[in-house]
Amino acid sequence: MLCLGIESSCDETAMALVRDGVLLGERIASQVDMHAVFGGVVPELASREHLRWLYPLLDELLQEAGLAVSAIECVAVSRGPGLLGSLLVGLGFAKGFAYGRGIPLVGVNHLPAHLLVAGLEHKLVFPAIGLLVSGGHTHLYHMRSPVEVELIGRTLDDAAGEAFDKVAKLLNFPYPGGKHIDRLGKGTPPDHNLFPRPYLHNDNLDFSFSGLKTAVLQYVHKHAELVMPSMDAVLQPGFEPSTAMACLCSSFNWTVAETLRVKTERALDRYPDVRGLYVAGGAAANSVVRKVMEDVAARRNKTLLLPSPSLCTDNGAMIAFYGEILANAGLFHGLDLEAVPRGKP
Ligand code: KG4
Ligand code: ZN
Repeated sequence: MLCLGIESSCDETAMALVRDGVLLGERIASQVDMHAVFGGVVPELASREHLRWLYPLLDELLQEAGLAVSAIECVAVSRGPGLLGSLLVGLGFAKGFAYGRGIPLVGVNHLPAHLLVAGLEHKLVFPAIGLLVSGGHTHLYHMRSPVEVELIGRTLDDAAGEAFDKVAKLLNFPYPGGKHIDRLGKGTPPDHNLFPRPYLHNDNLDFSFSGLKTAVLQYVHKHAELVMPSMDAVLQPGFEPSTAMACLCSSFNWTVAETLRVKTERALDRYPDVRGLYVAGGAAANSVVRKVMEDVAARRNKTLLLPSPSLCTDNGAMIAFYGEILANAGLFHGLDLEAVPRGKP
């Protein structure tokens, strides 16, 4: 079934076409630069940008794929979680498209869609443990099938990506700063004792990253020279971090990755029958997180389903791919489909 996927939950307007699990084309209009000057996503601006970009992206996508609009058989749209105004723009577009063309509509939960997009590059494996590490969520799932996904652990406060962004903000890096911390720590060994690995002295599968953020805040207060003089300093060609900056970034990368590892291994212990380990979401683009999860999967003989970095952050392919799975399972929605900005849609 040729499925159009629409993603507009936050600050990326994205669309993709998937047929029989194969990606035929994708387009993305990123708003990151526009929001960067505000140090975070401005919801009203995000909604306006989605409204501006959805139609041009559809035209570009169809041209790229060499397909007529009449070939689309199903439209899938991210229904949440995310920013309400942004979601409503995507939903309005998808409903109008489905109604106008007389094709079925599928509302997609953005969170499992992040995990299942791995199916574009790997054969899906079940049962599995899923670790979702995005800007808004840090969730552990037990996955029996693409449509039987149970939440078994979550963050009690900040998400992993959010912790990266808050630490980046302390250092006066541009938003979203996770990728800069990743890059500036590369090639420098981490100091395992620089920051505490948070919320591990318990027997649950939940996370808490706010204490780690506070530890970095205290460290940066004592080392004010680490704060960049201007927000674009790290973007300048040839920028090299100081030894102390490289160590901070490397140690922070390691501390987050290690914390994710401990809870993920605990989940694997609890569900010994699982065959796969899915890792996705923006922070799964982090090179240290990727390496740590590759090691976990290899050591425990699990199949790792870790999308390429470009498929870890928000994209249309994940909505189209998961949307087609849901459509093939007959899980359609009516035109009364609602946005679910918070919680589990
Ligand atoms: O999944 P995503 O694109 O959007 C949400 O659904 O939240 O995740 C965005 C998050 C941001 O917090 C961003 O800083 C983080 O992913 N991120 C990274 C890296 N690339 C993106 N964090 C650490 N290292 C990276 N390389
Ligand atoms: Zn996301």
